[in-house]
Amino acid sequence: MSKDKIPKTGIDEKDLFEYMENSMHSDIDWRSGKTFGAVYYPGEEYSKVISKAYVRFMHENAFDPQLFSSILSMENEVVEQTASLFSHEKDSLFGNVTSGGTESIFLSILSARNWAKNNKGIDKPEVILSSSAHPAFLKAMHFLNVKPVVIPTKKDFSFDLESFEKAINANTILLIGSAPNYPTGMMDPIESLSKLAVDNELLLHVDACIGGFLLAYLKKIGKDIPLFDFKLSGVTSLSVDLHKYAYAPKGSSVLLYRKEELRKEQFSVYPNWEGGIYGSTTFLGTKPGGIVASTWMALNHIGEDGFVKLTHKTMDATKVISDYIQKSKDLNLIGNPIMSLLAFNSEKHDIYHIADLLSEKGWYIGRLQNPPGIHLVVSQIHADGAAENFIADLQSVLKSLSSSEIKNKIFKTTDALAVNALKKAGYNSIKKTILGKTKSNKKSKKRLIYDLKSDLNLEESDDLFRSILSNLY
Ligand SMILES: Cc1ncc(COP(=O)(O)O)c(C=O)c1O
Repeated sequence: MSKDKIPKTGIDEKDLFEYMENSMHSDIDWRSGKTFGAVYYPGEEYSKVISKAYVRFMHENAFDPQLFSSILSMENEVVEQTASLFSHEKDSLFGNVTSGGTESIFLSILSARNWAKNNKGIDKPEVILSSSAHPAFLKAMHFLNVKPVVIPTKKDFSFDLESFEKAINANTILLIGSAPNYPTGMMDPIESLSKLAVDNELLLHVDACIGGFLLAYLKKIGKDIPLFDFKLSGVTSLSVDLHKYAYAPKGSSVLLYRKEELRKEQFSVYPNWEGGIYGSTTFLGTKPGGIVASTWMALNHIGEDGFVKLTHKTMDATKVISDYIQKSKDLNLIGNPIMSLLAFNSEKHDIYHIADLLSEKGWYIGRLQNPPGIHLVVSQIHADGAAENFIADLQSVLKSLSSSEIKNKIFKTTDALAVNALKKAGYNSIKKTILGKTKSNKKSKKRLIYDLKSDLNLEESDDLFRSILSNLY
């Protein structure tokens, strides 16, 4: 089969699906819980129904509300149902379905920037955020020419509220808080940020992209969750991803606002365009009808009882892993995670070595830097044995590291994708320039990337990773 040209005659569906299946052989086995992050799956039964809704509306365009009133009402219901989790019943919020956390965050910065310009005359806007906030904020500010003021977390990874407050100046337009943040899964002090926002007449965005749904249902099942949403008067916008713990297909998030005037700042309208009057509510033009329909289906088919059940399963699996880490003499849980994001490191062993050996056993796990750690996003898929299997593998890795025979062995694992990309990106010359400076080059290829990075200045490192991306796509 030619890979660089569209076939002259269409190929049979059976052959193509066979090809697809074959191409998936080296993909991660997420169905058996081998990945801690990237996939949020509600189980086969729910998934079947949700995908049916996707396919049913696959060709409809959610861009034009005049054409598909069905999609318009589904989008409005999704927004209202989501808003009901994050506000008092009497409050009415304003919001839209977006394509994901990054778009919701982009729009929250856009609306704040435009609002501050139009209402306060601020031309050099600054946004204050913690170093633990998601990089989507930095990406958005880069696109939108807004200055990020990044406050490093404290030594114990907690949020530095004092420095946040000191950073406020006449150009500050917006404060950012995460509920919870991705790296350690800890809640930022949203109540204090809300007070800071009110006292200084600033906007406050809460990033509940990963946590929103789980926190809302943890609260419903009686867990003590600090206030983090519109029940706090200083919160002016909040993002929550439905393609994470609400189990919608990829490409689904909701951005909510307290005030209509702020939401209006994210809209794009061109009433005089030659092609006709043009207006769009979010970043996208053409917008997949399937996403709106399947998100609507996920909320209404899973329902409160389903979300409660999935929340219990997620937290049961999280407890299995977090209990093990806390009891282990070799590992330390980082901080005080509120839900299913766990981060840990080790004083005894090199934590990246542990991560490499777990990868060798087929686990996909995240890595933290500054300082190094392992990062897990636990979900309900880990509740049917994967959490226990992970612990068994972690235990055997720790045991093997303690035995002197393996202790000094050179790491062998490779991250094929990254290494190939590095090679194509001129890996050899990069290796030559950089490894000259690197003390320890007898490490795994996966670690090599982290090692290389640690020896580079910011500009060189940016360039290296741009080249890697450029060669992957
Ligand atoms: C806290 C937080 N915010 C934002 C995002 C970005 O979301 P997306 O990858 O859907 O753009 C993530 C993704 O994991 C996240 O964890």
